[in-house]
Amino acid sequence: MFSNSHNMSWFSGRKMSWANLHSLAFGFGSAVDSREYHTRFHSYRVSEIATAMTRVLGVEKEERDEIHLGAHLHDIGKVHIADEVLQKKGPFTENDCWEMQQHPEAGYRIVKRSGMPRVVLNIVRHHHERYDGMGYPDGLEGKSIPREARILAIADTLDAMASGRAHCDAVPLDLAFTEIEMCSGTQLDPHMIEVILAVNRGFLERLFKRGQDSHVLADEAVFYA
Ligand SMILES: [Fe+2]
Ligand SMILES: [Fe+2]
Repeated sequence: MFSNSHNMSWFSGRKMSWANLHSLAFGFGSAVDSREYHTRFHSYRVSEIATAMTRVLGVEKEERDEIHLGAHLHDIGKVHIADEVLQKKGPFTENDCWEMQQHPEAGYRIVKRSGMPRVVLNIVRHHHERYDGMGYPDGLEGKSIPREARILAIADTLDAMASGRAHCDAVPLDLAFTEIEMCSGTQLDPHMIEVILAVNRGFLERLFKRGQDSHVLADEAVFYA
C-alpha cells in the first residue's frame, strides 16, 4: 500500500506526452458520450471537425492541439447529469433543461482542477454561448466569445444534425449546412460558418460514415498522435 504523498510525487515527476494526454482526453470524452446511444463518438467527430476548421484558419500547431483536446473534453460536465435526464427521449421539463444546461460549468470545474490550458477551459465553459448573446452559461456575445468556443459551437451543431439525436434523425450534409447558414449571426458566428464551408466535403462525408464504426475509431485513436 502506498501513501497519497508517494502517489503524488510519482505523478508530478513525469511529464505526460501528447499521445498520452490525447488518449486520456479521447477516453474521457468517449466515456461520457457512450452514456447515451445517439451521442456515441460525438466528441471524437467534434474534435476532428474542429481540427479541420483550425487548419483552414491557419491556427498554430500548439493551439490547434489544445483546441483538439478541448473538443474531446467539451461535454465532460455531463458526468453530473442523471441517466433519467440524459437518456430521456422528451418532452423535457424546465427542470430537465436546467440540469442539462449545468454541464458547461460543471465541466469547467473539472478541467480547471486538472490544470488544463486556458483554451481547453474556454471550450468546455463557453461552447453553448450564442453569437447573439442568448446562450449560456455567461451570455457572452459576438467576438467576446473566445474564438475556440465559436469553432466548437459550429462543430457541435454540425455533428448533432449530421449524426442525429434521440429527438431528430440525421440529415444529409447539404441540409445540415443550409440549416447552419440559417443560424448565421444568431446562434453562430458568420465567419466560422464560412470556415466550415471551406472544409473539405469528402473528409466530412467520410467522418460521418465512419463515425458509426467503433472499431475503426478505436484504431484511429491509437494512431492519431
Ligand atoms: Fe483526437
Ligand atoms: Fe455541450
